[in-house]
This record gives sequence, structure tokens and C-alpha cells, in this order.
Amino acid sequence: MTTDDYDEYQRGRDKMTAHRKTPDALRSARWFAPDDLRSSGHRSRIMQMGYSPDEWMGKPLIAIINTWSDINPCHAHFKQRVEDVKRGILQAGGFPVELPAISLSESSVKPTTMLYRNLLAIEAEELIRSHPIDGAVLMGGCDKTTPGLLMGATSAGVPAIYVPAGPMLRGNYKGTVLGSGSDGWKYWDERRAGNISKAEWIGIEGGIARSHGTCMTMGTASTMTAIAETIGMTLPGASSIPAADANHIRMCSESGRRIVEMVWEDLTPARIQTHRAFENAIAVAMAMGCSTNAIIHVISMARRAGHDIGLDDFDRMSRHVPVIANIRPSGDKYLMEDFFYAGGLPSLMGRIRDKLHLDTLTVTGRTLGENIAGAEVYNDDVIRTRDNALYQEGALAVLRGNIAPDGCVIKPSACEKRFFKHTGPALVFDDYPSMKAAVEDEDLDVTADHVLILRNAGPQGGPGMPEWGMLPIPKKLVKQGVRDMLRMSDARMSGTSYGACILHVAPEAYIGGPFALVQTGDLITVDIDRRSIHLEVSDEELERRRAAWQPPPPRYSRGYGWMFSRHIRQANDGCDFDFLQTDFGEAAGEPSIY
Ligand code: FES
Repeated sequence: MTTDDYDEYQRGRDKMTAHRKTPDALRSARWFAPDDLRSSGHRSRIMQMGYSPDEWMGKPLIAIINTWSDINPCHAHFKQRVEDVKRGILQAGGFPVELPAISLSESSVKPTTMLYRNLLAIEAEELIRSHPIDGAVLMGGCDKTTPGLLMGATSAGVPAIYVPAGPMLRGNYKGTVLGSGSDGWKYWDERRAGNISKAEWIGIEGGIARSHGTCMTMGTASTMTAIAETIGMTLPGASSIPAADANHIRMCSESGRRIVEMVWEDLTPARIQTHRAFENAIAVAMAMGCSTNAIIHVISMARRAGHDIGLDDFDRMSRHVPVIANIRPSGDKYLMEDFFYAGGLPSLMGRIRDKLHLDTLTVTGRTLGENIAGAEVYNDDVIRTRDNALYQEGALAVLRGNIAPDGCVIKPSACEKRFFKHTGPALVFDDYPSMKAAVEDEDLDVTADHVLILRNAGPQGGPGMPEWGMLPIPKKLVKQGVRDMLRMSDARMSGTSYGACILHVAPEAYIGGPFALVQTGDLITVDIDRRSIHLEVSDEELERRRAAWQPPPPRYSRGYGWMFSRHIRQANDGCDFDFLQTDFGEAAGEPSIY
């Protein structure tokens, strides 16, 4: 720690001591303390549930925002874990109340959970705001639940701690280790090529997800929970613990104990989630070989916290931080369970400590540097040394050009190197069903050099920007042994996906971005080293096409989708609603009428 780091840390400590709350300063005291009729009603109704005043009066009231549901296998253990969190809260002298929130099961929700991330953020924020809540434990993990819960808690502004669901155990089929998502894509292509039978496929279905917990590849869930830990919102090491491990139970009760103290210390998200904390998150994401979805979520989370983080921050960091986590799909062998046994996230952070701001504050009340002090790596093949990195530059690259003036994203660490510089003819699809049907047509006019394009799949066009970006390799090419080709879309892709997929094209085609003007047969040139992507069509011709372009009809005429369509921002701005960002209208905070 430098002298400057130490001074900033000490200032944070002094502030924490100075801010220590008294019971009458609790937010919940506004509901329960006054000697008036309305407060009497609040007290009476708590007692109606069988709680005597000794159990809650003058104690921090802690919301446990739980995204458990019967249809989310990644959170199936939350029904038990919430009891462990409650135990911790009670031990520390708090009063727990469980508040259920939308579950956002990645494997069930159509057209995509991304359509509802902001709905969860609104729900979490308003659950906290409208109830007598002094602090919150956020229980999530399945992809969008992490950013959704954190965005909501950030805007609500009360102390909050994140409890990640933890990755599931490694998959297994006949002794072969299986990785979530990645092996689904891989073996599906083998089935399409006629290399495996239906019976074998059913065996894979049964073996690839064999415990509760989130996807155990470095998909979006593991990426985002690692980011939550890096920005300081979880206990140290929490994001790496497998869901089925007893350490996970202990982490839950400890989180419950800690949130009560955080309330007394007034340790709010604003004090933890600084600009430097988000820079740390980007560095760690790169070292992890993160999901491309991290870009959208980190931008939206940072902007909720009032920090101007954008695509350039990712690209800058990607040039300096190597991928050292040998976890699929960037890695070729290991899964999150192996990562935990190798030391987990604190050990990885220890390996890139010179790339991190070690003075950032965390939910422990200590700095990130203090949290990771002494962390050791127990397996150098899982968490590589920097001179033996998987990939010397970071996991993601941001490309710009006439076809994507506001940027698009590729994951070079998960694609074949021959696509780092490539020119090929476009094969364009305007919607998902026509693309899906065409790739199964063995007479499709396509070669391995083509650039497959799917558009109208962005935030408004999808709608909700579904994970369609890993377009299937046409069956004709699969049978020829082709397993990767250049693909491009304004959609996202699952963090468990891989291949030469250019994603998040902005502005999206549906709102008239230049991506809407590409025609089958146009040449597209990609140069990852130069961070460029170019449609080889003259400006005059593009102007002619622009004049002829007709906007598609609206996706929605009512309901949540209607509101979504009017307020969703583009991928490079994090896909938050315009009216939820801190720079839009009034700053986050409670209206004084309550
Ligand atoms: Fe829940 Fe992958 S389906 S984390």
C-alpha cells in the first residue's frame, strides 16, 4: 500500500467511525418509533406475525431480496440458504425480512432475461425504498440477477451485500467432464454432423447440469459474480465457492452477520462502488476471460453509481491485462470448481495486483488489498502466471467502423486466430427464424469464408437483445468439418459461447443503424489488431440504401414491452432505461413525502 493509498483508506475508516448510526437514526425508526397512529399500525402488524418488540425495535431491519423460484435451477438452494442468511442477521442483532423478487431463470425466460434485467433493478430498488429497510442482502447469481439486484440496490442507496449463488458442480457424462453451455453447443454440432446418437445426446442432457448453482464455465453468471466481488460488494472469495460446498452455507451466515454491522457503519454502495472499483472490475474481467455480457452490465452498473465507464475503458484494459484464468470457454480444460480449489478469485487478483487499485473499500470495511493479502495460488495451470498467460492481451476487443460507428465487441480469446484479420462476403438474415431455417439447408450458398449476419436482434429489435450471437454454423459446413466462422449481429451471446462472433453492433439495425444497410454479397473486413471493422461499400451507395430504408413496425403496442421499447438505451450505453440513470432527471434518492 502506498502512502496515498493508506491516507485514502484511513479517511474511509474515519468516515465510517464518524458515521456510526444510533438506533433512532435507523431508517426503520421512521416507521416504528413515532408515538402516532400510523406508526402504531406498523408496530401492531409486526406483532401480528408473532414478533415481540424486543426482537425488532431499535434493530436494523434487513431485507433479504431473494430471487428463488421453482423454475430457476441455479437458485434452487436459496430456499435453504435464506435461512442461513437469517441466522447470521439474528446473531448480529438485526431483524431479517425475506422479500421475494423476480427470479429471471436464464434457462426458461423467453425471449430473453435481458428484457427483464431492468425490471428486477426497479423491483429491488422499490422494494427497499417502500419498506422500512435499513440494509439489504441480495441473493442472486443466474446471469441478469447480479447486475439487476446491484443496480437496484445502488439506486436505493442503503447498505447492501451480495450473496452469489455459486457455480454448480462439474458436469459429467460417462467419465467425460462437461461444461455448461459450451459443451451443449459443441456436442449439438456433433449431433448435427451425425457423429453422436439421440441416446447419447439425452445422456449429455442429464449429465451437464447435475447440482444446484449457476453455470460452471466462465459464463455470464461467473463473470458477473466475480465482478460483484471485485467492486467490493461480496465477502472475499464468495463468488468462487461452489453452490454445493459447505463453505457456501458459512458464507451466507457470515454475510448476514456482516450486513448488520454495515448498517451501523452506514457503509452504503456509494462508498464502495467508486470509479476505481469499476476499473478493478474491468481488469479482473479481462484476466478471467470474461463473458462479453460483462461490458453491457458493468457500463450500466457503473453509470447507476454515477461513473462514466464506457467501451473504451474495456478496450484500454484489454491491451494491458492478460487472460490468466484457464477456464472454459477461453481456457481449454478447467471449470469453476477447479478455480475454487486453485484459490479462487482472491488468488487471481493477487496475480494482477499491480493492475488493481488496492485502496478501494469493500463490504468488509477493509480494502481490496487487505482482503487479498496472503492469497495463494494452489494450481498454476488453472490460475496461470502472467508469463504463461492463456492470452497475452485481454479477453475482449472493441471494434469500430462504418458498419458499427458506436462500436461492437468480439472475444478474441475464444475464437480461431485466422479470423483476427479476415475479409469475406456477407450472408444476411433479417430475423432469427429465417436464419435458423436457412442454416439447416444443405443447399445454402455459403462457404467457410462468409460472414453470417443476423440483425434486428438488438435491444429494441430482439426485443431485449437475446443471446443469438453465436449463430449456428450452417449444416453443410459442419459436415465438412468447419467449427468456426465469422458471425456478426446486434444481439448478445451467452458467456458460455465461443467462436468468431462479433456482437452488440451499435446502433442496432432495428432503429436504422448502418448495420441495417448491409446486403448479401457485400464484403466485410475485420482487423482485430487495428480494432476496425469495415463494410466495403461506398458512402454514396450507403446513402442510396439509407434513403430506401423503411423502419420496421413497432414490436409492442402496450405493457412492459411498450415501455421497454421507448426507454431502453443502446448496448454501448449499457441498455439501462434512460429514466433510471443517475444523470437523467433527479438524482437517486427518496422523495421527502415518505
Ligand atoms: Fe443460470 Fe446459466 S442458466 S447461470
